[in-house]
Parts: sequence; structure tokens; C-alpha cells
Amino acid sequence: VIRSAVTGVGSYLPEQVVTNADLAEIVDTSDEWIVERTGIRQRHKARDDQPTSDLAVEASKRALVDAGRVPADVDLIVVATTTPDMTFPSVASIVQRKLGVPTCIAFDVQAVCSGFVYALSVADGFVARGMARCALVIGAEEMTRLMDWSDRSTCVLFGDGAGAVVVEPREGQGTKADKGLLGFALRCDGSKTDLLYVDGGPATTGSVGHLRMAGNQVFRHAVVNIAEAITACCEASGIEIADVDWFVPHQANQRIIKGVGDRLGLDEAKVISTVATHANTSAASIPLALDAAIQDGRIKRGDLVLAEAMGGGLTWGACAFRL
Ligand code: ACO
Repeated sequence: VIRSAVTGVGSYLPEQVVTNADLAEIVDTSDEWIVERTGIRQRHKARDDQPTSDLAVEASKRALVDAGRVPADVDLIVVATTTPDMTFPSVASIVQRKLGVPTCIAFDVQAVCSGFVYALSVADGFVARGMARCALVIGAEEMTRLMDWSDRSTCVLFGDGAGAVVVEPREGQGTKADKGLLGFALRCDGSKTDLLYVDGGPATTGSVGHLRMAGNQVFRHAVVNIAEAITACCEASGIEIADVDWFVPHQANQRIIKGVGDRLGLDEAKVISTVATHANTSAASIPLALDAAIQDGRIKRGDLVLAEAMGGGLTWGACAFRL
């Protein structure tokens, strides 16, 4: 088995910023309510002519530069997204063309907010089998396209953005001291679909549809599920929670992040939060937060990172890696 490592990280946020005050002009809400219940202060929004693949390409370019690689090196593209440009082809196919990557393996992974963790495990598997030596794993979303802008309980929560990592075979003996992906815990409970879904699609309305969510019920599942996945991931990775230098949670809501931290007794100073400025960017939120904390100097090469997420499906999961 060949082990893999994250060798480059990059992200991209569309230019337009939508503040809570902007949203208070279209629905009955307030900056105070949104900040108190979610921690969100603003979100980014893509232009009408800027599809998910464009955000993915920008994030990928930055990740490749960080890894010292060029598009010609890439042999696998996995895009985690729930907001593809079109029903098909996959965003990965479009990214391959736009980036100028030679013929390679490319497809999307659909696990909503947990998509990035799922996609990382897929790339790890391809590397382990010797089928990929330079993989791009991308989380890219335009959640604002799924909003019902008359539903104040959902439209204030989400934003657009993309993050990408390069995954390559790693050196070393495969111990927790070596750089690389250490372990995963991935879960799905399809019986809870009704709590969080989009009410459209080819076989239902024939249109894209809008995001629907029983927010407080999702909230209750989130803290318990995520805490369990973190514990299982540590076990699968051969690490203790205390070994982790940085927790990079999916950025849905500051109260979920805090709830998980309290449940597991995590040191708040080790938990990365970008929810105030990015809001919930679904599959993009982990690589966006990872890159933000690398850029501001907190996360450094050699640090042990644990990422976790939960989202529609319900899906959830965690992964641990040394950068
Ligand atoms: N502004 C003002 N009032 C609002 C707003 C808003 N934007 N949205 C809802 N309200 C009102 C409701 O109408 C309700 O009013 P009522 O009591 O008169 O009926 C009141 O606020 C309370 O509503 P609740 O839904 O009970 O509020 P809650 O405290 O649960 O907060 C929230 C709602 C923020 C959605 C919370 O449940 C939550 O964060 N859930 C997690 C869901 C999530 O983040 N999902 C993302 C995808 S899954 C994932 O990534 C984990």
C-alpha cells in the first residue's frame, strides 16, 4: 500500500460580499439574530456568469503552485460538489479542460457538506493502488444558487467558494510522525434525508430546486455525530485527540463547532473558524478554512490536522493528516 500526503493547498472566494445587513433588506432578519444564532457576519457570492468550475479552477491553480506542480502533472481530479455547473458532465471534467490537464481520471463526489472528507478518502485510495501520483481534490460550491431567498431560516446560512489540495504519494514508514493522510471515519444515515435536502432534480420537479432544512433537528444530530466521527477517526489513525495540533471543522455554524469542542473537551485555540466571514460553503468549507489558517501562519507544515464535517444525506465524517 502506497501512503498519500497533502502537498499543496489553495482556495478562492468570489469577490462579491453579502453582509447580514444586505440580507435584512430582503428578508425579516437582523445582523444580531444571525450573529447570535450562527456566528455568520458575511458570505461571498459568485457572479451569475461564474459557475462552480471557475471557482474550482482558481483554487486548483493556487494549490498546484503551493505543491510545486503544474497542470500537466495531474492524473486524478476529484471534485466534491453539490452545485455542479450542469447535471452532467461533472465539474471535474470541466476543470480538467479549463486547467489544461492532459487526459486523466476525473469525476465528482456528491456527499454535500461532507464531500471534501469523502473525496480525500477517494484520492487516498487511488494513490494507495498506484493509480494516481498527483491528485487534485477540490471542494467547490455555489450554495447561493440553491437558496429560497424568501426563507429567512436558510438563506442567511450559506455562501460560495472553493478550496483545493494536491495529494501525492508520501515518503516515510507510515507512522503518525510522518507527513500524510492517517485515517478516516465516514458515515451516512439515509433515513434522515427529510431533515436537509434540495426539493428539485431531474426526476422530481425537473428544475434545480431549493434547499430545505429542519435546522434545529439537524443541529441536534450534528454535535453527537461529529463527536463520534472524530473519536473513530483518531482510533483509525492511531492518534489521541491530544496529539492533534489543529481542528478544521466544516464551517456550518459557530454553535455546532463550539458544541463539538465542548463535548470532546477541545482547546478552543486549536479550532479554526472561518464561519464569520465565509458562512457555510458546504464541501468547500474545510479546504477554505485550512488554507486561511495556513495563510495567516497558524497551521504549518508538519502539523497534525483533524478535519470533520456533517451535511445532507445525512452524511458525516472526519479525517486526520500530517501536513
Ligand atoms: N432571522 C430572524 N429570525 C429567524 C431567522 C432569521 N434568519 N431564521 C429563523 N428565525 C426564527 C424562526 O422563525 C423562529 O421563530 P418563531 O420562534 O417565531 O417560530 C425562531 O427564529 C427560532 O427558530 P429555530 O429554527 O428554532 O432557531 P434555532 O435556534 O434552531 O436556529 C439555525 C436556527 C441557525 C438554523 C440552527 O438551527 C442551526 O444552525 N442548525 C444547524 C443547521 C445547519 O447549520 N445546517 C447546515 C447544513 S448541515 C451542516 O452543515 C451541519
